[in-house]
Amino acid sequence: MTGENAILLRTTGLTRKFGGLVAVADLNLEIREGEVLGLIGPNGAGKSTTFNLISGFIKPSSGSLEVFGRDCTGLSPTTISRLGLTRTFQHGSYLRTMTVRDNILIGTVHWLAGASSSQRMKRVEETAAILGLTPHLESIASSLPHGLQRLVSIAIAFATRPKLLCLDEPLTGLNQTEVGTTLNILQSFRRDFGSTILLVEHNMKAVMSVCDRIVVLHHGRQLVTGTPAEVRSNKQVITAYLGSNHAA
Ligand SMILES: Nc1ncnc2c1ncn2[C@@H]1O[C@H](COP(=O)(O)OP(=O)(O)OP(=O)(O)O)[C@@H](O)[C@H]1O
Ligand SMILES: [Mg+2]
Repeated sequence: MTGENAILLRTTGLTRKFGGLVAVADLNLEIREGEVLGLIGPNGAGKSTTFNLISGFIKPSSGSLEVFGRDCTGLSPTTISRLGLTRTFQHGSYLRTMTVRDNILIGTVHWLAGASSSQRMKRVEETAAILGLTPHLESIASSLPHGLQRLVSIAIAFATRPKLLCLDEPLTGLNQTEVGTTLNILQSFRRDFGSTILLVEHNMKAVMSVCDRIVVLHHGRQLVTGTPAEVRSNKQVITAYLGSNHAA
């Protein structure tokens, strides 16, 4: 990873208020091509609000958003996802009563407006294979174990082969084996597809092992940005979030 990699996403002074609460305050975020960037911080720090802002689900109170070099401030989620930024939702983003196959198919809707149904089916099957979901394609999503349900959400987002994939707590509720499997899948997105990943996660072991850089949010503000080693040993971060048992 070098500092010369293209900047895929840049926020400038991005701010979102909910009444008197400033959920995201003056955020200057840069995501570089090919990196895994972690976004961490305590509950309520503004991580999911940041996801909602950069994917167009909510509009900023002030500040701007540039995605793939284009000003995307105020643009719709559909427009932003068609440009190549997709995201998952913290509490799952799949349709519970539909099969895994149909869920992933939904992920291809915004991909290539002119794609034929056989091209879409091929994409669904390739995506399922990458995520280890092939044996479950005909299962109803809600009937799967929790770990596989989390993978279905990722599969829907990855079906578009996004340039920038934003994952909101993909490891929540997973056991150690499932965490390992999911991290391997993220590594393969990066290695085999050149994906850039923005990762919100509370599992610090995972964040420290997979991220190139980490941004720490606290009360909506950017507290520290640095490598995992820098973040882990930063006194402000330890006080605000990690606790002393995470110190390097
Ligand atoms: N739609 C909304 N209306 C009012 N307040 C909101 C809204 N969305 C988020 N907030 C508030 O903004 C702050 C940031 O919330 P956010 O969900 O972004 O935190 P988070 O960092 O994702 O936390 P967690 O780790 O618990 O998921 C919180 O105080 C939350 O209550
Ligand atoms: Mg959140």
